[in-house]
Amino acid sequence: MGADSLTVTDNRTGRTYELPISDGTVRAMDLRQIKVDEDEFGMLAYDPAFTNTAACRSAVTYIDGDAGVLEHRGYSIEQLCERSRFLEVAYLLIFGELPTGPQLDRWVFDITHHTFVHEDLKEFFKGFRYDAHPMGMLLAGVGALSTFYPDAKKVEDHEERYMAAVRLIAKMPTLAAFSYRHNRGLPYVYADNDLNFAENFLSMMFKKTEVKYDPDPRLARALDVLFILHADHEQNCSTSAVRGVGSSGVDPYSAVAAGVAALYGPLHGGANEAVLRMLRRIESVDNIPGFLEQVKDRDEKLMGFGHRVYKNYDPRARIIQQHMEEVFEATEYNPLVEIARELEKRALDDEYFTSRKLYPNVDYYSGIIYEALEIPADMFTVIFAIPRTAGWVAQWMEMMDDPEQKISRPRQVYTGERERRYMPVAEREGPEKIVGPPAKRPKRPRRGA
Ligand code: ACO
Repeated sequence: MGADSLTVTDNRTGRTYELPISDGTVRAMDLRQIKVDEDEFGMLAYDPAFTNTAACRSAVTYIDGDAGVLEHRGYSIEQLCERSRFLEVAYLLIFGELPTGPQLDRWVFDITHHTFVHEDLKEFFKGFRYDAHPMGMLLAGVGALSTFYPDAKKVEDHEERYMAAVRLIAKMPTLAAFSYRHNRGLPYVYADNDLNFAENFLSMMFKKTEVKYDPDPRLARALDVLFILHADHEQNCSTSAVRGVGSSGVDPYSAVAAGVAALYGPLHGGANEAVLRMLRRIESVDNIPGFLEQVKDRDEKLMGFGHRVYKNYDPRARIIQQHMEEVFEATEYNPLVEIARELEKRALDDEYFTSRKLYPNVDYYSGIIYEALEIPADMFTVIFAIPRTAGWVAQWMEMMDDPEQKISRPRQVYTGERERRYMPVAEREGPEKIVGPPAKRPKRPRRGA
């Protein structure tokens, strides 16, 4: 074995540099010494969308995308789904160890007793239009929480951090359920402390006139497993948003609101809603071959397939499939399942998808389960945000204690004009057309075509 370093020769100057390697990485700042002239800024690493840049050191979640492995704090996702409940996993993510009995009791007690939101937040929600998207409401609601807990801005205070973690995890289901009931014109339902985390969420969503809501344990368990599966996924788009915004020193409610906003996007949390729309458009198993051709022609995207990190079967998708049968025992059969299964089978048999390592991700089947639970599609991302809050908080806390972290501030490669002469408006010339849609981007050709 040679030295733990990378030797780089700059062919512009013939100079050679020795860059230390640690944990399989070189420090981007070490590139800065590479320059042609002394007064130059120095070399940058160019990495749009951060496809090959580690922005932090983290001990929360381990993923081996090629092998399809997901672990939280060293425990496999399979073990956690089988043996833990969501709140225990949330504790593990945030504090690094599985809780002892007394620790778990205290944690569950604290979360259970912080599920109420201030009555003024109800008034705030009332201000939304009757058909407001619940994710927009959740985003605003989480941001608004920071105004109710101003002490959360003392981000160095560990007691305040703990309270923010408890409040965020406890109140997220309440805000989520309120946003759903606002849409339906239904009265808000307060938390029931006799129920566990998943059961209580179902109660806040679906309780009508009954004195006590009695959730089906199979459905509550399936929802709890879905919560565990979505609890954290290392440096994804929303977590990076939380870290990026949190790095400014803002309070955790505002940082988590940034995560909710990122999750709202169809390429992230919105994928399972898009999967259902896609399956409905396909309509029947007979239309699958035609649909797959459209995907290959880039007229369609196979939603719920592909992942930035997994180049193998997403382990979460496998676990969801195991729970699907259980859910359908307790609910009406969803005919979209047949289309989904056949579509998956055909895609996995097709060179176009296998050569690009496109496999089902967590969202391929999650929407079908949510639908079986009678959760409407516009609530899917909202429900994703409930457990992901644990991951966001864990990552935010880790970042806050990391002495290497500073305010997040990427660099750019400037491609615009320089040193232009300012023209008075009367002297400016340009095309006649003032406004209009941008020119359509040409389709990328099929690879290998
Ligand atoms: N359907 C068809 N082709 C696809 C798909 C898909 N779902 N995903 C990727 N590809 C193709 C790309 O067109 C590209 O082909 P090319 O090399 O011929 O140009 C190749 O596979 C590589 O894809 P990239 O876009 O480079 O992959 P990237 O890592 O940037 O994107 C992403 C990952 C955004 C998840 C993408 O696979 C996708 O859009 N999937 C559908 C949306 C989805 O399911 N998102 C949920 C992700 S899981 C989560 O957020 C919880």
